[in-house]
Amino acid sequence: MDFDLAQTDALLSTTRAVRKRLDFDREVPDDVLLECLQLAVQAPTGSNQQGWRWMIIRDAEKKEALAKLYRDAGGEYLAAAADAADSGTQQGRVIDSANFLAQKLGEVPVLMIPLIVGRLTDNSANSAAGLMGSIMPAMWSFQLALRSRGLGSCLTTLHLGKEAEAAELLGIPDHMTQAGLLPVAYTLGTDFKPAKRDDVAKITYLDTYKNPIRPD
Ligand SMILES: Cc1cc2nc3c(=O)[nH]c(=O)nc-3n(C[C@H](O)[C@H](O)[C@H](O)COP(=O)(O)O)c2cc1C
Repeated sequence: MDFDLAQTDALLSTTRAVRKRLDFDREVPDDVLLECLQLAVQAPTGSNQQGWRWMIIRDAEKKEALAKLYRDAGGEYLAAAADAADSGTQQGRVIDSANFLAQKLGEVPVLMIPLIVGRLTDNSANSAAGLMGSIMPAMWSFQLALRSRGLGSCLTTLHLGKEAEAAELLGIPDHMTQAGLLPVAYTLGTDFKPAKRDDVAKITYLDTYKNPIRPD
């Protein structure tokens, strides 16, 4: 199969955390969400368990209740906004943007909560990777599929500090784990750019951690 590398590379490098450019006024049909989710469930899962479940939240009261849980849980992080937002740094812009989303979360057309069957049984890397690693790849595929259709999202986890309260609100059973909360909307424009990232050659090692693949 011949991929159009320019297109696939553009999709991979310009799928951003979208907050300020979410279109709060344009409706998002179920069909487009289901199409993107159908692509997302091509993602890998541990032992091919496919224990993913997807919650779409459109109800205005439920969205506002989730937004409040998000703000309550994220209090400390969000409070840093005032200090960091003016700093002009990439980090400052992220915090400012995160604060904007926190304030507006209840107004986003759709909130999506990905679920995975099971709970963490211990805090080993094996358990964490097995559980979250069986839902996060699908979440990212969902975001890529959204982007390719003119929609955007932002992977958020702040509300998980109030996971039990959110489960109660949405009737989620105790044996399920919430993996995050994705606000979903069409984007205002589609001209997103690649972000500044480290040169991977400087953080890649060959055979032993002492051996940078490209020594200076
Ligand atoms: C595990 C994880 C948790 C995140 N949690 C939040 C969050 O709770 N709220 C938020 O606004 N952004 C959250 N983000 C989005 C990051 O801030 C964002 O990906 C990062 O700033 C890089 O921006 P980019 O994705 O546009 O390159 C999270 C991202 C990841 C991967």
